[in-house]
Amino acid sequence: MYQALYRKYRPKTFSDVIGQPQVTTTLQNELLSGRISHAYLFIGSRGTGKTTCAKILAKAVNCLNPKNGNPCGECEICRQIDSEEIMDIVELDAASNNGVNDIREICESAAFTPAKAKYRVYIVDEVHMLSPGAFNALLKTLEEPPSYVIFILATTEMHKIPATILSRCQRFEFRKISVEDIANRIEHVSEQENVSIEREAARLIAKVSDGAMRDALAILDKCMGQSKYIAMTDVTEIVGVASQDQILSLIKFIAEGLPQNALQVIAKLDKASKDMLRLTFELLCAVRNLMLIKTLKNDAQDLMVVSADEYKNLCKIAQSLTLETIIFIMDTLQLSFEKISKGCNAKIELEICLVKLCDPKLSYSKEAIVNRLENLEKKLDMLSLNAEIIKTDTKADLKNNLEKDIAEALKLGEETTKSSEKKLEHCLDMNSLQKNAQKMSNWSEVLKILNEYSHTIATAFKDSTAYISGDFVLIDSENEMAFELLRKSSQRDKMRTAIKNITGKAYKLGPYLKNKENVNNEKVDPLKELAETARQMGVNVTER
Ligand SMILES: Nc1ncnc2c1ncn2[C@@H]1O[C@H](COP(=O)(O)OP(=O)(O)O)[C@@H](O)[C@H]1O
Ligand SMILES: [Mg+2]
Ligand SMILES: [Zn+2]
Repeated sequence: MYQALYRKYRPKTFSDVIGQPQVTTTLQNELLSGRISHAYLFIGSRGTGKTTCAKILAKAVNCLNPKNGNPCGECEICRQIDSEEIMDIVELDAASNNGVNDIREICESAAFTPAKAKYRVYIVDEVHMLSPGAFNALLKTLEEPPSYVIFILATTEMHKIPATILSRCQRFEFRKISVEDIANRIEHVSEQENVSIEREAARLIAKVSDGAMRDALAILDKCMGQSKYIAMTDVTEIVGVASQDQILSLIKFIAEGLPQNALQVIAKLDKASKDMLRLTFELLCAVRNLMLIKTLKNDAQDLMVVSADEYKNLCKIAQSLTLETIIFIMDTLQLSFEKISKGCNAKIELEICLVKLCDPKLSYSKEAIVNRLENLEKKLDMLSLNAEIIKTDTKADLKNNLEKDIAEALKLGEETTKSSEKKLEHCLDMNSLQKNAQKMSNWSEVLKILNEYSHTIATAFKDSTAYISGDFVLIDSENEMAFELLRKSSQRDKMRTAIKNITGKAYKLGPYLKNKENVNNEKVDPLKELAETARQMGVNVTER
């Protein structure tokens, strides 16, 4: 039967465990000197070796021939623990057994001395999932554990563990495993499995696993399912990340101010179902590398996870950008990353972000203006270097102009924000209008009168319906042309006059959202609804 790689390569001794010396060395030393606790708490993100170390520890305290604090793996007890023949090691997954009775059962059984082993060991995984009652039951046993009982609790979320429990355990923190360590392990496992893997591919797997060895091995498993020679492209395909080339080209397009090229790359990546949030993050990491190159110069490479080729390319790009611009790009990307994490449409947000980055003039954020100011200052500095050519008065002129430019940019920024706020407010208003709309009973009469003023509009609105809400008459028509006509103010006037003729009141006009009636009972997505209203009002709204 096929065994998943991450299970097949679960370390058997502390010495096999990678990247957690603060845990493994300490535990080995304590075991060597016979200092054994009765309650351990293993904390750390997933896939970093908590369950693995719990199993090793359970074996090590019971092994008949421990070697240097490690279980021998060969004695009767070690073998029986491996084959799960022994009843003295109990594993409980608190994610699925979190009730008070589950824990009570354990605590009751703890009263019995072990059958074969020296210690009865309880491994409680995902312990943060226990119910409050279960924690209480556990606490009682932890307060006075029998001498032959050891609890090993493991969790990814320490803040969910009651302080009373925390204070009774010896705590060990598991760290995310470094890219280097994971990549080495991936290469080692590949070799054992007779698979060859490119160094860069192993590093990419390590990078996207974010410190979790289990995830890394799971990705390797998938890659191996496709080929016995694993290249970078196999990994990018399987994990859905953009290749380094694509990331670099995006940054180049930003640096050169080429939004259409940047958007083309995004469209291509989106078509290939790449994860846009991850892409934003990858971009951010790449620009961070530019920042490191700018600030640390030759020491930067040590802090970066890039190949020599990538490093060369990054240095080239870094040369063409100022540190201020790099930081501006990072800020903007970071903001988009947060927005996407909070649920904004990922592709649209990233597109907006890239267009802004390609042309900072489009962005009126403080950072963007500061960035433009800095560029202007630099130009000014350069100009003043040529002091002989530029006379003092021209310099003053230049400064004046510069100040004017800046004031203008700031004002324009304010105006743009205000006008888009107004537009949005208007959309919101329209939306609430719609909710209180009442069908207009004498609409056909309006159309009859309208026919006398303008045959064209009357015909266009032939099969329409209208609703009254407050000062508005909202018109519902299947005919796109009808609304086209109403865009002209003269036509609108005719419509208004006709309405006034019949109702005696001067109403404002608006579109009534189509489909409104057919969706009656279905849930309406308020965002979609708003976008639809906006679209009918002539605001350009893109949607995925
Ligand atoms: N520090 C590590 N060294 C080597 N392999 C590891 C390490 N951490 C995790 N693994 C691999 O990942 C798998 C799952 O690890 P596990 O101990 O269950 O993680 P956790 O309990 O922290 O989520 C193991 O079987 C092993 O293959
Ligand atoms: Mg675990
Ligand atoms: Zn043994």
